[in-house]
Amino acid sequence: MSNLISLLGLQWGDEGKGKVVDHLAKDLKAAVRYQGGHNAGHTLIIDGDKVVFHLLPSAICHQEIKCYLGRGVVVSLDALFEEIEDAQKYLGEIEERLIVSRACSLIQSFHIKLDQLREKSPASTTIGTTGRGIGTTYEDRVGRKSIRVQDLYNETLLKSKLEENLDYYNFIFTNYLEGEKEDINQVLDRNLDQAEMLKPYVGNVISDIHDHTSKQEKILFEGAQGALLDVSLGTYPFVTSSNSSIGGIASGVGIDPRMIDYSLGIAKAYTTRVGEGPFPTELDDSVGEHIAKVGGEVGATTGRPRRCGWLDAVLLSHTVKLNGIDGLCLTKIDVLDGLDEIKICTDYEGNSLNDLLETMSIEEVKPSYISMPGWEKPCAGIRDYEQLDGKAKSYIEKIESLCGAPIVMISTGPRREDTIVRQYPL
Ligand code: GDP
Ligand code: IMO
Ligand code: MG
Repeated sequence: MSNLISLLGLQWGDEGKGKVVDHLAKDLKAAVRYQGGHNAGHTLIIDGDKVVFHLLPSAICHQEIKCYLGRGVVVSLDALFEEIEDAQKYLGEIEERLIVSRACSLIQSFHIKLDQLREKSPASTTIGTTGRGIGTTYEDRVGRKSIRVQDLYNETLLKSKLEENLDYYNFIFTNYLEGEKEDINQVLDRNLDQAEMLKPYVGNVISDIHDHTSKQEKILFEGAQGALLDVSLGTYPFVTSSNSSIGGIASGVGIDPRMIDYSLGIAKAYTTRVGEGPFPTELDDSVGEHIAKVGGEVGATTGRPRRCGWLDAVLLSHTVKLNGIDGLCLTKIDVLDGLDEIKICTDYEGNSLNDLLETMSIEEVKPSYISMPGWEKPCAGIRDYEQLDGKAKSYIEKIESLCGAPIVMISTGPRREDTIVRQYPL
C-alpha cells in the first residue's frame, strides 16, 4: 500500500494527468502542486461537463481533499482568484481546504509582459511559451529577488522589492522591447488588495504535509507539464522553467524524497507537443491530422493546436528510468482506434543514445520504427483489460517491454470511468 504518490507526465505535457488524478482522488486525503503555475491545463469531465484546472490541484473537485500549492509553484494572484471564483460556482466554499505556501513566488504583471514581449522579439529565441510569465518569474526566484507570498504582509518590504524589480523591468521594457513602463503605485496597490483576499488561504505546507504523513494519510503530488519539459532534464531550451520531474517534489514541497513510495507515470499512447522544439516522431501528414482531430488535440490553456506523432519509446523509456516509475498509466489509446498501422520509435539511427540523452539535443535525429497492426474492435470506453482486442493488448504489452515498467492503468476515454485498472497504484 502506498501513501505518498507522485503522478507525473512523462512526455511533453497534456498526457491526461487531470483525468487520472480525478480517477484516483476518491482515495486521497491531500493533493499538492509543487511546480509550474497557470501554464498548466488539466481537463476533467465531471457528469458530462468539461472542467479545466490551471493552478489549482485537479483533486480540488473532490470535497474531502485538502489541496496545497507548495513553495515550488509560481502563483499569479489574478489567475488564482479567477480560478477560485469559477471553481466555487460548482464546488461551494473551498477556503478551508486550499492552502498556499507562504514561500511561493508571485507572478507579477511585469513578468507576464516580459514573457510576451520576449516571445515576439526577433532578438530572443521563440520558445512558444504559454505567455503566463512562468519563466520570467522563475528567473527572479533563482536571482533571489522575487516577491514571495509572505512579503505581501510587510508593506515596507513589499514596496522596496517592487521598486527594485520595476527599476530593472522598466529599463528593459523601454530600452530593449518597445514596451510600456509599469507604474509602481498601481502594482503596489494591486498587491496590497490581493494580499487581503489571499489571507485566508495562506499556510504552512511543510508542517501540514508532515501532519498528513504522520497520520498515514494518502497524499498525491500532482505534476504539471511533463518530464521532457523539465528545465534540467528536458529538451533544453525548449522546456518550461521548473523541475517537472520527480526531483521537483522534494524542493517544491519540502519533503524527504525517499518518502515517496509510488511513482505513477502518465503517457499518451502516442505523442503530442505544444510550442516550439524538437519532436522526432512528429507526423506531418494525414495520420497526424487524424490523431489531432480524434484526440481533440488543442491546448487546454492557450487553445493552440498540439503537434502529433507516434509514441517515442526511446524518450519514454528514458523518462521512466529518470522518474523511478513503478507503474505507467497509458492514456488515449482509443484515439488510435481505426488505424491500420501503428508505429513505435525504438531507436535513433546511427547515434550514441547516451550522448543524446545527456543533452537532449535531438533536433537532428532520425527515428527508426517498428510497425504494429491496428486493431478491429475499438478500445473506446472499455473498462476491463480482457475485453480489449488482442492487437491492442499486443501494442500495450510491447510498450511495457520497451519502457521497462508495468502498465497498471489504461485510459480509454476522457471520463473518469473510462479506465482499465490492472493494478491499483494506491
Ligand atoms: P493534462 O494536462 O495532462 O491534464 O492533459 P490535458 O487535459 O491538457 O489534455 C488531455 C485531453 O485528453 C483532455 O481533453 C482530456 O479530456 C482528454 N483525455 C484524457 N484521457 C483520455 C482518453 O483516454 N481518451 C480520450 N479520447 N481523451 C482523453
Ligand atoms: P500541462 O500541465 C503542454 C510548454 C509551452 C512551451 C513551453 C514553455 O497541461 O501538461 P512556459 O509557458 O511554461 O514557459 O512554456 O512549455 N508547456 C506545456 N505544454 N502542457 C503543459 O502543461 C505545458 N506547460 C507549458 O507550450 O512549449
Ligand atoms: Mg494540459
